[in-house]
Amino acid sequence: MRACRLFTVPLALFAAGWSGAPGAHGQDGDRVDYVTQVRPILESFCYECHGEDRTRREADLRLDIKENAFADLGGYPNIAPGDPDDSELYIRVSSEFAEMRMPPYEAGTQLTDEQIETIRLWIEQGAEWPEEEGADN
Ligand code: HEC
Repeated sequence: MRACRLFTVPLALFAAGWSGAPGAHGQDGDRVDYVTQVRPILESFCYECHGEDRTRREADLRLDIKENAFADLGGYPNIAPGDPDDSELYIRVSSEFAEMRMPPYEAGTQLTDEQIETIRLWIEQGAEWPEEEGADN
Protein backbone atom coordinates (compact mmCIF):
# COMPACT_ATOMS: atom_id res chain seq x y z
CA MET A 1 0.00 0.00 0.00
CA ARG A 2 2.19 2.79 -1.19
CA ALA A 3 -0.45 4.59 -3.17
CA CYS A 4 -0.26 7.79 -1.18
CA ARG A 5 3.15 8.58 -2.59
CA LEU A 6 1.54 9.06 -5.97
CA PHE A 7 -0.54 12.03 -4.94
CA THR A 8 1.37 15.03 -6.13
CA VAL A 9 -0.79 18.07 -6.58
CA PRO A 10 0.09 19.93 -9.76
CA LEU A 11 0.40 23.28 -8.06
CA ALA A 12 2.24 24.77 -10.97
CA LEU A 13 -0.87 24.51 -13.12
CA PHE A 14 -2.79 26.29 -10.44
CA ALA A 15 -0.24 29.05 -10.10
CA ALA A 16 -0.28 29.69 -13.83
CA GLY A 17 -3.83 30.97 -13.55
CA TRP A 18 -2.76 33.77 -11.25
CA SER A 19 -0.38 35.64 -13.46
CA GLY A 20 -2.18 38.90 -14.05
CA ALA A 21 -3.12 39.25 -17.69
CA PRO A 22 -1.23 42.20 -19.12
CA GLY A 23 -4.01 42.99 -21.60
CA ALA A 24 -6.27 46.01 -21.51
CA HIS A 25 -8.66 44.35 -19.09
CA GLY A 26 -10.72 46.65 -16.98
CA GLN A 27 -9.82 49.83 -18.81
CA ASP A 28 -12.48 52.33 -19.72
CA GLY A 29 -13.77 51.70 -23.18
CA ASP A 30 -13.23 48.00 -22.69
CA ARG A 31 -16.64 47.25 -21.35
CA VAL A 32 -17.93 43.72 -21.42
CA ASP A 33 -21.17 43.42 -23.35
CA TYR A 34 -23.82 41.09 -21.98
CA VAL A 35 -25.47 40.21 -25.27
CA THR A 36 -22.39 39.47 -27.31
CA GLN A 37 -19.97 38.28 -24.63
CA VAL A 38 -21.73 37.04 -21.52
CA ARG A 39 -24.95 35.49 -22.73
CA PRO A 40 -23.20 33.16 -25.20
CA ILE A 41 -21.20 31.71 -22.29
CA LEU A 42 -24.27 31.19 -20.14
CA GLU A 43 -26.11 29.74 -23.13
CA SER A 44 -23.44 27.19 -23.92
CA PHE A 45 -22.48 26.20 -20.40
CA CYS A 46 -25.38 26.92 -18.05
CA TYR A 47 -28.81 26.99 -19.71
CA GLU A 48 -28.83 23.22 -19.94
CA CYS A 49 -29.40 23.05 -16.18
CA HIS A 50 -30.41 26.65 -15.41
CA GLY A 51 -32.63 27.49 -18.36
CA GLU A 52 -36.18 27.22 -19.56
CA ASP A 53 -36.44 23.42 -19.44
CA ARG A 54 -38.13 22.89 -16.12
CA THR A 55 -37.54 19.15 -16.13
CA ARG A 56 -33.79 19.66 -16.21
CA ARG A 57 -33.55 22.75 -14.06
CA GLU A 58 -31.22 22.51 -11.09
CA ALA A 59 -31.19 24.43 -7.81
CA ASP A 60 -34.35 26.25 -8.96
CA LEU A 61 -32.05 28.72 -10.68
CA ARG A 62 -32.66 30.26 -14.10
CA LEU A 63 -29.90 32.21 -15.74
CA ASP A 64 -31.80 33.00 -18.94
CA ILE A 65 -34.18 35.50 -17.33
CA LYS A 66 -32.88 38.71 -15.84
CA GLU A 67 -35.25 38.77 -12.89
CA ASN A 68 -34.17 35.29 -11.84
CA ALA A 69 -30.51 35.82 -12.55
CA PHE A 70 -30.42 38.79 -10.17
CA ALA A 71 -32.57 37.15 -7.53
CA ASP A 72 -31.47 36.52 -3.99
CA LEU A 73 -30.59 32.87 -3.47
CA GLY A 74 -31.58 32.79 0.18
CA GLY A 75 -29.36 35.28 1.90
CA TYR A 76 -26.76 35.73 -0.82
CA PRO A 77 -26.98 37.27 -4.28
CA ASN A 78 -26.48 35.34 -7.49
CA ILE A 79 -25.17 38.52 -9.10
CA ALA A 80 -24.08 41.50 -7.01
CA PRO A 81 -23.42 44.26 -9.55
CA GLY A 82 -19.96 45.69 -8.98
CA ASP A 83 -18.86 42.91 -6.67
CA PRO A 84 -17.90 39.62 -8.32
CA ASP A 85 -16.54 38.17 -5.09
CA ASP A 86 -19.96 38.56 -3.50
CA SER A 87 -21.73 37.03 -6.52
CA GLU A 88 -22.54 33.35 -6.17
CA LEU A 89 -22.47 32.99 -9.96
CA TYR A 90 -18.87 34.18 -10.12
CA ILE A 91 -17.87 32.31 -6.97
CA ARG A 92 -19.19 29.13 -8.56
CA VAL A 93 -17.55 29.48 -11.95
CA SER A 94 -14.20 30.43 -10.43
CA SER A 95 -14.14 28.06 -7.48
CA GLU A 96 -11.10 25.89 -7.07
CA PHE A 97 -13.24 23.32 -5.29
CA ALA A 98 -14.61 20.71 -7.63
CA GLU A 99 -17.81 20.29 -5.65
CA MET A 100 -18.58 24.03 -5.90
CA ARG A 101 -17.50 24.59 -9.42
CA MET A 102 -19.95 25.31 -12.25
CA PRO A 103 -20.51 23.74 -14.65
CA PRO A 104 -20.31 20.64 -12.47
CA TYR A 105 -17.62 18.13 -13.22
CA GLU A 106 -20.22 15.65 -14.55
CA ALA A 107 -21.24 18.10 -17.25
CA GLY A 108 -17.91 17.37 -18.91
CA THR A 109 -17.37 21.00 -19.90
CA GLN A 110 -15.38 23.80 -18.32
CA LEU A 111 -15.08 27.51 -18.76
CA THR A 112 -11.75 28.80 -19.97
CA ASP A 113 -9.85 31.31 -17.84
CA GLU A 114 -10.79 33.93 -20.38
CA GLN A 115 -14.50 33.18 -20.10
CA ILE A 116 -14.28 33.31 -16.31
CA GLU A 117 -12.49 36.64 -16.55
CA THR A 118 -15.19 37.96 -18.92
CA ILE A 119 -17.83 37.16 -16.32
CA ARG A 120 -15.77 38.70 -13.53
CA LEU A 121 -15.26 41.92 -15.46
CA TRP A 122 -18.88 42.09 -16.49
CA ILE A 123 -20.03 41.90 -12.87
CA GLU A 124 -17.32 44.30 -11.72
CA GLN A 125 -18.46 46.79 -14.36
CA GLY A 126 -21.99 46.71 -13.00
CA ALA A 127 -23.47 43.60 -14.64
CA GLU A 128 -25.43 45.53 -17.23
CA TRP A 129 -28.19 43.38 -18.71
CA PRO A 130 -30.40 45.21 -21.20
CA GLU A 131 -34.04 45.04 -20.20
CA GLU A 132 -35.25 43.80 -23.57
CA GLU A 133 -32.77 40.95 -23.45
CA GLY A 134 -34.52 39.33 -20.52
CA ALA A 135 -36.91 36.56 -21.40
CA ASP A 136 -36.43 35.67 -25.00
CA ASN A 137 -38.80 32.79 -24.76
C1 HEC B 1 -25.16 19.68 -15.62
C2 HEC B 1 -25.99 20.60 -14.92
C3 HEC B 1 -25.45 21.97 -14.57
C4 HEC B 1 -24.82 22.90 -15.39
C5 HEC B 1 -24.45 22.72 -16.85
C6 HEC B 1 -24.60 24.06 -14.58
N1 HEC B 1 -25.08 23.88 -13.32
FE1 HEC B 1 -25.15 25.25 -11.80
N2 HEC B 1 -25.98 23.87 -10.57
C7 HEC B 1 -26.25 22.56 -10.89
C8 HEC B 1 -26.67 21.83 -9.70
C9 HEC B 1 -27.03 20.37 -9.64
C10 HEC B 1 -26.68 22.77 -8.64
C11 HEC B 1 -27.06 22.50 -7.18
C12 HEC B 1 -25.93 21.86 -6.44
C13 HEC B 1 -24.92 22.87 -6.03
O1 HEC B 1 -25.30 23.87 -5.40
O2 HEC B 1 -23.74 22.67 -6.34
C14 HEC B 1 -26.22 24.03 -9.22
C15 HEC B 1 -26.07 25.22 -8.49
C16 HEC B 1 -25.65 26.43 -9.03
C17 HEC B 1 -25.55 27.66 -8.30
C18 HEC B 1 -25.89 27.86 -6.81
C19 HEC B 1 -27.36 28.17 -6.65
C20 HEC B 1 -27.70 28.45 -5.21
O3 HEC B 1 -28.91 28.51 -4.92
O4 HEC B 1 -26.80 28.63 -4.37
C21 HEC B 1 -25.11 28.61 -9.16
C22 HEC B 1 -24.86 30.08 -8.87
C23 HEC B 1 -24.89 27.96 -10.43
N3 HEC B 1 -25.25 26.64 -10.33
C24 HEC B 1 -24.41 28.59 -11.55
C25 HEC B 1 -24.11 27.95 -12.74
C26 HEC B 1 -23.47 28.60 -13.86
C27 HEC B 1 -23.06 30.05 -13.90
C28 HEC B 1 -23.34 27.65 -14.83
C29 HEC B 1 -22.68 27.80 -16.17
C30 HEC B 1 -21.33 28.33 -16.19
C31 HEC B 1 -23.90 26.40 -14.32
N4 HEC B 1 -24.33 26.64 -13.04
C32 HEC B 1 -23.98 25.22 -15.04
C33 HEC B 1 -26.15 22.00 -12.15
C34 HEC B 1 -25.60 22.61 -13.26
